[in-house]
Amino acid sequence: MPDEFAGVRLLGPPETDGEYIALSEHELVHLHEYTRIYAVPGLYEHVVQDRLQCTSPQVAAAGFLRAAARLGSDPDSLTVLDVGAGTGSVGELVRRGGVARVVGVDSLPAARAASLRDRPGVYADYAVGDFLRPDTLREALRPYALGGLVSAGAFGGTHATPQALDNALALLPPGAPVAFTIHEQWMDATDPDGFGAAIERLVADGRLTVLERTRFQHRVTTTGEPIFYQLLVGETG
Ligand SMILES: C[S@@+](CC[C@H](N)C(=O)[O-])C[C@H]1O[C@@H](n2cnc3c(N)ncnc32)[C@H](O)[C@@H]1O
Repeated sequence: MPDEFAGVRLLGPPETDGEYIALSEHELVHLHEYTRIYAVPGLYEHVVQDRLQCTSPQVAAAGFLRAAARLGSDPDSLTVLDVGAGTGSVGELVRRGGVARVVGVDSLPAARAASLRDRPGVYADYAVGDFLRPDTLREALRPYALGGLVSAGAFGGTHATPQALDNALALLPPGAPVAFTIHEQWMDATDPDGFGAAIERLVADGRLTVLERTRFQHRVTTTGEPIFYQLLVGETG
């Protein structure tokens, strides 16, 4: 563990009313207070990836590269959209897998700043905007011929909604490889407002073909319980 994070403690119920990290005796930060966490170089990766064993970036990136291979898309000629790019782990992984260009989007200016600070050169561009209001992104994304989409841990709960997924997919041409991860609790197809129903509608409308749908352990909670997500790998229609 790097010395600078040796004092970081993870707290959860019943000690606290949710998942928190204690940066010092007096500084408690909720796990989803990304602006504060992204402000400290390496803190998000230390807590979420190292201590909470988050695998979504690896799972989503590998799923995307499998989809591209299966659809015969040469990664070397692809420009891929990374939805909810955060500090840039997913972009780094798909670039390492041979993807030519990645364009990141996140609703938080702090995410863009952290990504440019910690992973310069990974993204061809990184826009700040919310997929719920795609008009805010249209201008920033106009220069790019997007040919795929990848996203880890950015959909569901306090994050992007099914409508945001719909809007992001609408930016792609037919036949594009896509891979994204979603908490399994939001994949229940009987919930009309959930992702399960939204994906069924996308499939029924011919806008998405699901190539893979797998359950995996996304991370553990601050008290050590496993959290399961689903990986969706597909092709736009
Ligand atoms: C759990 S973090 C994951 C970051 C990164 N994908 C990773 O795996 O390291 C989720 C990110 O999604 C972003 N996000 C949530 N809702 C969004 C939306 N509607 N549009 C764009 N970004 C969003 C958040 O700001 C946050 O940075």
